[in-house]
Amino acid sequence: MNTKKVGIIGVGNVGSTLAYTLAHKGICSNIVLKDIRENIVQAMALDISQSANAAKSHTVVTAATSGIELKGCDVIVITAGLPRTPGMSRDDLLVTNAKIMESVLEDVKVYAPKAKLVIVSNPLDAMVYTALKVTNFPREQVIGMAGILDSARMSHFILEKVGYGAGQIESSVMGGHGDDMVPLPNYSTVAGVAIPELLSKSDIEDIVTKTKNGGLQIVKLLETGSAYYAPAHATSLMVEAILHNQRKIYPCAVMLDGEYDYENIVGGVPVMLGSNGVEKIIELNLNEEQKALFANSVSSVQELVDTLNTKYFQK
Ligand code: LAC
Repeated sequence: MNTKKVGIIGVGNVGSTLAYTLAHKGICSNIVLKDIRENIVQAMALDISQSANAAKSHTVVTAATSGIELKGCDVIVITAGLPRTPGMSRDDLLVTNAKIMESVLEDVKVYAPKAKLVIVSNPLDAMVYTALKVTNFPREQVIGMAGILDSARMSHFILEKVGYGAGQIESSVMGGHGDDMVPLPNYSTVAGVAIPELLSKSDIEDIVTKTKNGGLQIVKLLETGSAYYAPAHATSLMVEAILHNQRKIYPCAVMLDGEYDYENIVGGVPVMLGSNGVEKIIELNLNEEQKALFANSVSSVQELVDTLNTKYFQK
């Protein structure tokens, strides 16, 4: 039994699937759900709580009717925001979701100023930047979920090509959670064997392209929203690592402060997660081509941040 408490703000598909996953992992004693849609959040809390009772899990799931119920949260996950629909890039959501982010963080600042924040809303890297800017929290406390998801997608596409190794594939994706993300084949392995030893150049190129388009592929098929099972599971790993001070290394979006020669910009890099949030940022020895791809990805994030700074934060 443990006494950890997790808040989830925004209980759409990702938020509710995350709550369900955490309740059944039994890694926290309380989950509090918050959403502006009062009936929906109550329905989700009831349904997920009842599923936890069916599973004899000790996790209690409740719906918050006010911000004060976030008090005592160790981790707060923010998924609030509009999801992508067909024809939209993640970036089209920029200003709308920045407004939503700022408003949901009001309660967090007042009632849970020590909580570690896991940001899931899109466009991801710009929302991490927004959360840092409006809370003024230290960078260790605000972490974006994207790299685990993108790496899981890469593993899926590697499995499709190789045809074996399910559950034994480790993939690495860096950069922003956008069209310019940087899948890293030479840091990706099947049971420890780097994929350039197993696949042709064109197969690897195909995997890289499919990984970059992995989210869009699902958006197109669903027509009314975006992926949620893989995003929710990826988020649950981050929550678990922080709650239980696992000090596991995952690719996450964090504010860079000199790492990889960038500062004051958010980028996806390997991060050690523990009870302080970011415990350490791992710097890979990227080759020139990878450095250029990472630079390109960071500059796409920078463009969004510049837009936010001129169109939103100057308001
Ligand atoms: C995706 C959305 C959540 O990649 O960004 O599926």
